[in-house]
Amino acid sequence: MVKKVISNNQEKMEKIVALCKRKGFIFPACEIYGGFANAYSYGPYGVELKNNIKKLWWHKFIDSREDMVGLDGPILLHPKLWEASGHLDGFNDAMIDCKECKMRYRADNLISEVLGIDLEGKLAEMTKVIQEQIKCPNCGKKKWTEARYFNMMFKTEMNGIEGPVYLRPETAGAIFVDFKNVIDSCRVRIPFGIGQIGKAFRNEIVARNFIFRIREFEQMEIEYFISPETNWEPLFNEWLELQEEFALELGARREDLRRYEHSKEKLSHYSRKTIDIEYNFPFGFAELFGLAHRGDFDLSQHQKFSGQDLQYLDHTTGKKYLPHVLEPTFGVDRCVLLALSAAYSEEDLADGEKRVVLKFPVKIAPIKAAVFPLLKNKSELVVKAKEIFDDLKDEIKCEFDDNGNIGKRYRRQDEIGTPYCITVDFDTLQNNDVTVRDRDTMRQERIKIPELKHWLIDKLK
Ligand code: GAP
Repeated sequence: MVKKVISNNQEKMEKIVALCKRKGFIFPACEIYGGFANAYSYGPYGVELKNNIKKLWWHKFIDSREDMVGLDGPILLHPKLWEASGHLDGFNDAMIDCKECKMRYRADNLISEVLGIDLEGKLAEMTKVIQEQIKCPNCGKKKWTEARYFNMMFKTEMNGIEGPVYLRPETAGAIFVDFKNVIDSCRVRIPFGIGQIGKAFRNEIVARNFIFRIREFEQMEIEYFISPETNWEPLFNEWLELQEEFALELGARREDLRRYEHSKEKLSHYSRKTIDIEYNFPFGFAELFGLAHRGDFDLSQHQKFSGQDLQYLDHTTGKKYLPHVLEPTFGVDRCVLLALSAAYSEEDLADGEKRVVLKFPVKIAPIKAAVFPLLKNKSELVVKAKEIFDDLKDEIKCEFDDNGNIGKRYRRQDEIGTPYCITVDFDTLQNNDVTVRDRDTMRQERIKIPELKHWLIDKLK
């Protein structure tokens, strides 16, 4: 078999988007109404993939560590929280409109894409550079408005609350406001972390690149609390490595990961260090995860705005202090896009056929095994295959498929990334064994039915 190199990355992206729709991974939302503002639904295989990624994360960062606990906070939080965190005043992106064709752009992105320079945060300069040097990529005219800031939080209202409330633009806020509850109710000792998975909402000026930048997305965030006296650099590096390790577990190749450190001038005033981990998506390197040292900014702001004492009491020294925090943050949808991009491959087979295969790591594959009777119209084969399927399905996510010839069924499972296909044939009835075909090597071996479940569980570890 020959692995085809897909040279045109735009083409690869289009193929992934098409496969996602065709095979039930990701659909454009509300298509029957003409679609809706770059929103997507995760279909039957997409939701399995996404849940497996979240499970892997929760296991790695919460369940398997003694210094981590979980939380599930609300999406609608007290509006004061966003005042304290700085989101009400500062969670802005700069936008600019073309007066001719009415297209809207994120000003800093437009400049960096066309001129390769970074003017983020410099509003007047952005206006000047765009008005003087950049033509609208849509209509080719140079008729721009001024660049202006736009707050990205979605507003809504709530019965009994005066003024707007906001859909959270990140999950982190919910962790900080429950910090005191966690230290009062659980036996946690610094250093420890609180992790959370949940939806976040940002009214992005331009949503694009499929599920890379969307307005409703999911995050997996950790606030890791440390003493202000901790030598934090080694810990910071450990978190970076763990984040990269997680990307590798999703299927990323090491050479497709790189680090981007925020320069001192771009760093938030409270942050000692911020590094983005970037992945080489089909459209190029872009932020996958982030890691920031946020000092005690969040807890001290919430202490100030709430009037509550949020200090931590160190029982061994008797000292009270506001902890500092390291924040490793992960985007779920970007993990899904990484998994799809890394797994997608096209192969020319020896018999002249082609196959598209998603080579997911087994832990995140939506379906782990498919069970086939060789022929649909031979009831003894169908009954035996159903028996095997029923025996496996409680412990292993399986599919039963008796539709079309075996070759077609293999291709179907390859396209959704199923690691193992199990075929019941006439020898099965004689020898009590089945053929198991490996997705990646396409090699087949006979496994005795009584050993099959354990054999699979072992392979799927
Ligand atoms: N609490 C820190 C924080 O929210 P961020 O870099 O703004 O930091 C964290 O977001 C992660 O959330 C990003 O690294 C990315 O993976 C994901 N993310 C951010 N905006 C997104 C969007 N519009 N669509 C999809 N994922 C997004």
